[in-house]
Amino acid sequence: MIKGLKIFDTPEILAQHLSNGLQSSINNSPGNFFLAVSGGSTPLVVFNKLAHPPYNDNFQWEKTHFFWCDERCVNADDPESNFGAARRTLFNKISIPKANIHYIHGEAIPKDEVVRYSNEIQKFVPSGENGLPKFDSVLLGLGEDGHTASLFPGKSLLFTYSNIAGVAKHPLTGQKRISLTADILCSAKRITFVVTGKGKAKVLSEILLDLPAVKNYPAGIIKSISENIDWIVDKEAAFYL
Ligand code: 6PG
Repeated sequence: MIKGLKIFDTPEILAQHLSNGLQSSINNSPGNFFLAVSGGSTPLVVFNKLAHPPYNDNFQWEKTHFFWCDERCVNADDPESNFGAARRTLFNKISIPKANIHYIHGEAIPKDEVVRYSNEIQKFVPSGENGLPKFDSVLLGLGEDGHTASLFPGKSLLFTYSNIAGVAKHPLTGQKRISLTADILCSAKRITFVVTGKGKAKVLSEILLDLPAVKNYPAGIIKSISENIDWIVDKEAAFYL
């Protein structure tokens, strides 16, 4: 039995389960709810679900504060933009205060944006016992190389024990990114890895079965540190489990 693992027949059913969970966590939260989401294609299934009945009008959006785990250093209108994708699939379709959407300014000078975004997180997100901002929920994806957010294997931006975010570079494309550090991700009350598709089956099995390759995977390192992780996956991604 793998701790925190839930397997769903399809991404659609997975998205429904995740939406139900988020709705109850947010609506039952005594105060504001601080959520950090990832980019890429996987979250879009969830955003699309949240943008339609029964979720769009039943979430207490005024209590929900969206942040990003990472962002590509591009304009919000660029097809690569994680915020741009979330705006198109979700924010343009729900009534959420604009002040609750704390997106990373991909168009800014990366090192300056790291400072601005880190300050914004510290201003809004209450700190935990370790003095770091403590998100209520972090939704993470998984790359086939074991990356998550924009924490790539072998790169320095994993643990800094001081910064909240940093500038990363995609190892293949060289694209600059801004990413939360593993420190912050691991400080969250709850981390949910959302993994779908056959392409992720090998890396997911390596991580969940603690195979030797895992020690280089940022997602595996996070798994080895945080006690509060759910793995919400579809049957295709769970092929080898
Ligand atoms: C990003 C994401 C990244 C993503 C994985 C999985 O900005 O690209 O934060 O970490 O979660 O690469 O991407 P898919 O969901 O597209 O497979």
